[in-house]
Amino acid sequence: MSAQEPQDALVIFTPSGKRGRIAIGTPVLQAARQLGVDLDSVCGGRGICSKCQVAPGYGEFAKHGVSVAPDALSPRNAVEDRYDRVRGLKEGRRLGCQARIMGDVVLDVPPESQVHRQVIRKSATERVMQMDPATRSYYVEIAQPDMHDPTGDFQRLQAALEKQWQISGLQADLQILRELQPVLRKGNWTVTCAIHHDHAGPPRLTAIWPGYHDAPLLGLAIDLGSTTIAGHLVDLTDGHVLASSGLMNPQIRFGEDLMGRVSYAMMNPGGDIAMTDAVRDALATLASALATEAGADPAAIVEAVVVCNPVMHHLLLGIDPVELGQAPFALATCDSLSLGAAEIGLNTIAPAARAYLMPLIAGHVGADAAAVALSEAPEARDALSLVVDVGTNAEILLGNRKGVLACSSPTGPAFEGAQISSGQRAAPGAIERLEIDPATREPRFRVIGCDLWSDDPGFAAAAPAITGICGSGIIEAVAEMRMSGLIDASGLIGSAEQTGTPRCQPMGRTHDYVIHDAPASGGPRISVTQGDIRAIQLAKSALYAGARLLMDEIGVDRVDRVVLAGAFGAHISPKHAMVLGMIPDVPLDAVTSAGNAAGTGARMALCSVAARRAIETQVRRITKIETAIEPRFQEHFVAANALPHATDPFPELAKIVTLPDVSFNTGGSGGEGTRRRRRG
Ligand code: FES
Repeated sequence: MSAQEPQDALVIFTPSGKRGRIAIGTPVLQAARQLGVDLDSVCGGRGICSKCQVAPGYGEFAKHGVSVAPDALSPRNAVEDRYDRVRGLKEGRRLGCQARIMGDVVLDVPPESQVHRQVIRKSATERVMQMDPATRSYYVEIAQPDMHDPTGDFQRLQAALEKQWQISGLQADLQILRELQPVLRKGNWTVTCAIHHDHAGPPRLTAIWPGYHDAPLLGLAIDLGSTTIAGHLVDLTDGHVLASSGLMNPQIRFGEDLMGRVSYAMMNPGGDIAMTDAVRDALATLASALATEAGADPAAIVEAVVVCNPVMHHLLLGIDPVELGQAPFALATCDSLSLGAAEIGLNTIAPAARAYLMPLIAGHVGADAAAVALSEAPEARDALSLVVDVGTNAEILLGNRKGVLACSSPTGPAFEGAQISSGQRAAPGAIERLEIDPATREPRFRVIGCDLWSDDPGFAAAAPAITGICGSGIIEAVAEMRMSGLIDASGLIGSAEQTGTPRCQPMGRTHDYVIHDAPASGGPRISVTQGDIRAIQLAKSALYAGARLLMDEIGVDRVDRVVLAGAFGAHISPKHAMVLGMIPDVPLDAVTSAGNAAGTGARMALCSVAARRAIETQVRRITKIETAIEPRFQEHFVAANALPHATDPFPELAKIVTLPDVSFNTGGSGGEGTRRRRRG
């Protein structure tokens, strides 16, 4: 900036508060650049894109010590008039590339004119997300070919980008080089380029359109789970989610859980390739479905971020996951990867789109856990946070400002309603909430698809056919059975005589508790069996043991807060989870749900290069604990089998719930609950 001269004006930008002396006659866009103000431009000041809009303020600004005269900016010019006529310019707005500084002025940069605008996440934590996308649009004018100065079209595009946008060393894959010549000619040597430039590599041309292309660039955030694949289509200018969708992971046919898929790869030559093909097809289908749902052009999707566990990661990349099936669980690579999206099967979007795979934490703790760490940022708090993402495996993070630890624990699919006699996935007709009257031991419940409780008038007419019980329903059912004295601390269901309810019916050497039985209507008999209780005990013991192992590691008996992540976490009732002893004892209001935190982390990485940098650094700092080789895990697992726990006290739980002191052990079954589930 030049020293103060008579022909300089004081220019103040809000909301940044950046200010400085600018030579009279300087365009506002140039002044913004001189002062380091974040003012967008796609057309490079040609009056085409309107991204550079500012709102000048006139009059006295005591706060800034400046008085702005009506002629502080040059009068509207022909370019602005034409833009206003054709596209409409909001009242009071000016195009920053056209308006010139003529005197002291205060200029507000509205959020939509900021490249690095802040977006408030609509989540429990309400943290601010900074837009800092890797891919941005640039309008550029290219020299026409000249026989006397023979250069390639791409080299002239490179030169134009260097000169007009200071982007040097542009690279382009073959897919985009094939498109280049017709697009340049169609645009009469003007084009809009989508250029990907992240923290890891050179700038790359990922899409190109003739002339000025106004549509926003789009990105995909994909949470690739063992059971389901969830995707969000995101506007890369403002982080807005345009469409969300999900589908089942087609690899399920090769193996229900992760180890099932690893063994399929081990035992079937080419099995890994079949699984790779299946998941890539699914990603391509999901991308098309999201574009259709949003009414968007799939060619506008220029980037994808994928988070997944290590086995999914390797299979997606076409790497045989066999090493992940046995100690020492070596990963082929754990760093983040920046690839061509087509290389991982995303061939229904822009052909030269890029894909970013988040780093993996360890052999059993994947990029999905890294995404949860990015979204929940336990390292940013003083409070000791336990973050659990419950799925077929539970990913567990424990930490605060002093450090973060991570492990994965093999809970199995019981929490998702699988391996439960009346279990089903969360879908209309599934029991999702359940209460048992402690006096009568009669149940009342709610099913997905109906807001009424089963004992409300009109329930029978309004509710869909009752088909089973989903993950949150089985957790509430088992916890309510414990609270109403139908099962004892060891998990044993009492008989009708012991419990005083005919709903406890003999089934072989054990008992069932019948929740719903309507043979007249042909509906299924829905009950909780002794086997169901054992499956839930195995799952919750694995979860609790993983958490305890991390707590041991830093030498604490308590945590300050618990965050339940994952789609399932959003539906778990904290009280019931604590009655079961799924999570350590904390005040109920210290248990929060983070929704799909892995998906949120994927979106954050999609919208921000800084977020990618942050998680790559954080992942290196996280202490990894391997549950499979920790003898103490087994000890914790056995002790955690009781409801809520054999030895650990639950004083906060005792303040709100008194668990009946019953015992139904007459020498019958019950021992199998201590058997350890295999990882999966
Ligand atoms: Fe494009 Fe001003 S920079 S219209």
